[in-house]
Amino acid sequence: MTLNPDAQRWNARYLRQAAGPAEPPRQLLQDVAHRLPASGLALDVAMGRGSNAALLLERGLRVIGFDISWVAARYAKARWPALNVAVLDLTQAVLPSDTFDVILNFYYLDRALWPQYWRALKPGGWLVIETMTRDMLRLKPDLNPSYLLEPGELRTAFADWDVFLEYEGWCASQDGQRSAVSQLAACRPHTAAFASLAGGGR
Ligand SMILES: C[S@@+](CC[C@H](N)C(=O)[O-])C[C@H]1O[C@@H](n2cnc3c(N)ncnc32)[C@H](O)[C@@H]1O
Repeated sequence: MTLNPDAQRWNARYLRQAAGPAEPPRQLLQDVAHRLPASGLALDVAMGRGSNAALLLERGLRVIGFDISWVAARYAKARWPALNVAVLDLTQAVLPSDTFDVILNFYYLDRALWPQYWRALKPGGWLVIETMTRDMLRLKPDLNPSYLLEPGELRTAFADWDVFLEYEGWCASQDGQRSAVSQLAACRPHTAAFASLAGGGR
């Protein structure tokens, strides 16, 4: 059996980190957590070692985390047994409709998932999304541009959503350096009556 190259790469990376503690939840999530529902079902897309998912667990939600790395999933499940984890390749995922109250998408860029987020959330459900932008190439020119957002891309793609928070610029990253990021916290509207049919986020 040939293992997916992304799974191999991420498993190797997480195995190197095995002795270290999980990183804290992302600052954006800490900042908006009080606005999120305290019950219901959340999905953490590309969950990693589970810190973000755990914050939602502690808030009272049931949480399922998807990740391609079984090393990360095993770490998360051992640390937070109440967490549901699934090891899968998100490039092949079809999310169920009208199912989630919250979706987290931190530092994993797959634009093909974006229209699925609208359908997978219940009306009024929350999407919290953050990843790096092309400006990051000024600091790290070797990054793969296909993992980086274009300027203004999130704002445009999710223009039909009820946006609670939107930011694009530099912020402190978890490794103590700076990152160029785009952040968005938004709700799937209860009614799409006034929404443009052209929106890329759904
Ligand atoms: C930069 S980490 C982000 C982890 C976490 N969301 C966070 O905020 O720290 C990217 C994650 O995406 C996962 N990943 C990469 N490709 C994937 C794929 N095709 N399907 C599912 N997960 C994937 C990796 O295993 C890794 O845990």
